[in-house]
Amino acid sequence: MSTAVVTGAGGALGRAIARRLAADGHAVVAADIDTDAVEATRTAVTKAGGQALAWTLDLRDPDAIGDLFEMVGSAHHGTAILVNNAAVYPSRPFLDIPLAEYDTVYQVNQRGYWLCAQAAARQMAAAGGGSIVNIASIVVHGGWADLASYVSTKGAAVAMTRALARELGPLGIRVNAVSPGAFPTAAETIHSDPDGYTKFVLDHQALKRRGTPEELAAVVSFLTGPDSAFVTGQTIEVNGGWVMA
Ligand SMILES: NC(=O)c1ccc[n+]([C@@H]2O[C@H](COP(=O)([O-])OP(=O)(O)OC[C@H]3O[C@@H](n4cnc5c(N)ncnc54)[C@H](O)[C@@H]3O)[C@@H](O)[C@H]2O)c1
Repeated sequence: MSTAVVTGAGGALGRAIARRLAADGHAVVAADIDTDAVEATRTAVTKAGGQALAWTLDLRDPDAIGDLFEMVGSAHHGTAILVNNAAVYPSRPFLDIPLAEYDTVYQVNQRGYWLCAQAAARQMAAAGGGSIVNIASIVVHGGWADLASYVSTKGAAVAMTRALARELGPLGIRVNAVSPGAFPTAAETIHSDPDGYTKFVLDHQALKRRGTPEELAAVVSFLTGPDSAFVTGQTIEVNGGWVMA
């Protein structure tokens, strides 16, 4: 059984991705800083008949990332699939963002993706291939006020996807990104007017309903499965037709 590592697996989208990859037949290592949330993901996966391990780590800590992949290498024969999904998204005007907050956002959303990809790719290279999916965001297209650090890291996720796809392709490793639009998850708590925000979302989407985490996870499933064997370096937009790229 191949192993899929999903970071941020305690969150709504990460949990759906973990559930879907387990249903696809992978042993899932569900990693998150939130022990209770990731344990709930493990329970959800196993209740549905899948295999999962809950792993608590802080992606700001490079040693903790090393420990995660060392465990996967020794106990799970290496990483076949990595989904870089964890993110933080503090909201604040650009002119007021303290350096420490910027550093935190970068440590989780960019350096964390980078270090996980590097550790996973080393195992994938030794195994002759693998698949990495980086979760980006619709905000890379038009920006978003009061989220400059977050938006910057999501742009970096798209650029990193292309760089790694180019370099790791000869090793049989595919690297793609999935760019969610607006999904109704905890991330929406940054918007002060939930009803107004929902109307705003539906006004912009071509499809006049909210997307579900399962619909996002289905695209991750495609990108980590055999049907996308010739797809690499791409960013797939999953946004109900809000931005068409
Ligand atoms: N929900 C949306 O509408 C939306 C839109 C665009 C992009 N995204 C992206 O989708 C991904 C998942 O988003 P979500 O809506 O499920 O958010 P979420 O906040 O529910 O999940 C993010 C998870 O990352 C974890 N995390 C945060 N800091 C961490 C750290 N230092 N170490 C380890 N784990 C940490 C959190 O505990 C949380 O479980 C993110 O990359 C986000 O940027 C979401």
